[in-house]
Amino acid sequence: RSTADADFYDMRIAETELEVLPGIRTKTLTFNGSFPGPTLRARRGRAVVVRQFNGLSGPATVHLHGADVPASSDGHPMDPIAPGQSREYRYPNDQRAATLWYHDHTHHFEGERVYRGLSGAYLLSDPVDELLPLPTGEFDVPLMLRDAKFDSKGQLVFVPDDFLNRPTVLVNGRPQPYFEVKRKLYRLRLINGSNLEMFKFRLSTGAPFLQIASDGGFLRVPAVRQEIDVWPAERAEVLVDFRSVPPGTAIALQNVAALSENKRDILQFRVGDGGSWAKPEIAIPSWSGGGRVPLVRGQVPGWPANNALRGRVTRTRRFVLRLDLAKGQFVINDQGFDPDRVDATIEHGSTEIWEIVNDDAALGIQHTLHLHLVQFRVLDRNGKPEPAHDSYPKDTVRLFPGDVVRIQATFDSHLGRYPFHCHFLDHATHSMMGQFEVV
Ligand code: C2O
Ligand code: CU
Ligand code: CU
Repeated sequence: RSTADADFYDMRIAETELEVLPGIRTKTLTFNGSFPGPTLRARRGRAVVVRQFNGLSGPATVHLHGADVPASSDGHPMDPIAPGQSREYRYPNDQRAATLWYHDHTHHFEGERVYRGLSGAYLLSDPVDELLPLPTGEFDVPLMLRDAKFDSKGQLVFVPDDFLNRPTVLVNGRPQPYFEVKRKLYRLRLINGSNLEMFKFRLSTGAPFLQIASDGGFLRVPAVRQEIDVWPAERAEVLVDFRSVPPGTAIALQNVAALSENKRDILQFRVGDGGSWAKPEIAIPSWSGGGRVPLVRGQVPGWPANNALRGRVTRTRRFVLRLDLAKGQFVINDQGFDPDRVDATIEHGSTEIWEIVNDDAALGIQHTLHLHLVQFRVLDRNGKPEPAHDSYPKDTVRLFPGDVVRIQATFDSHLGRYPFHCHFLDHATHSMMGQFEVV
């Protein structure tokens, strides 16, 4: 449905039994009966209104991750939809083209809710970027990946922070599926919707990806990448070229960071039109060879500038993330989330540098930091400049044990209270989350 000033989506959050594993009914949580939720599409300059009906027995909120939205539509954990009620979230889409995603954010339940299925892709395009020579339609593919554990009856098992024991990766809701591709150029939008799983993507042939976008939109310069880290909530858009691959070839999208062999191949591309599937032996042509890189800097007028560097830095803050073993809680600056506390009051229009410390070197625990509302620039990591493809535009940053990372953001859009938190959702749920307020 469309009104004069917005496109309209009607969504219903509910418990649903559906087939995730072949021949088995699994209890899931869904948006409109879909696991993961339906892919929503939006265009810059045209608002989208999503009416969410909460068909669960407890409160729910829905957050659009990576979006620049008014606080009233952010899906803040303390701003829920009561059971049996509905609420309209309004998304202005006044930001660059990007692969965003929506997910539940209910206070103390986001970890389990997202794990049981409440997430979906939200693809924002921009009339300017639509002029880019990029694959479209069936060749533009969102891939929502996430960790899972099933019991012997095929039901999802949620044990918080059970990092070593989620043996399955689902791709768009299916375990290790095949994907029959044509001998064409594909745009893959890799979305890590896991609570805990850290991906380091690679193609089984060793052929590189051409990374064109990060969390919040296009890179200024596309990057040829052999391996790409995508941690929980991060996104990477890549081009993969199957044009010269012999029909019948199988190519695996692998996670070389997988802790067990059976989680390594997460998706198998089968190239061509129904050939016999031989062993995956043949490499796809390298991006660097033969002038295959289709996008070069300066080719496209209006290639997005780096607007995270606008503004003068008025303030620096420091946030230390760690597991407090005594409290049995994940904390930021020694405190768990308190909805009544504001951790950073930010003057509207100002630019700040946040120094983020992962203080869990001894325990070897990874964290991330995600800020609602803004896209930021990662300035440096342990004193070294962050590579461009991991620097901007970002809304979630990886923190290896012991890392000290500095990010810079400008808070010049909406006013109000927004969360920031680790996006290992099991950490955020208990209770690695704070709030900033733009005033
Ligand atoms: Cu993916 Cu608080 O967000
Ligand atoms: Cu978010
Ligand atoms: Cu964490």
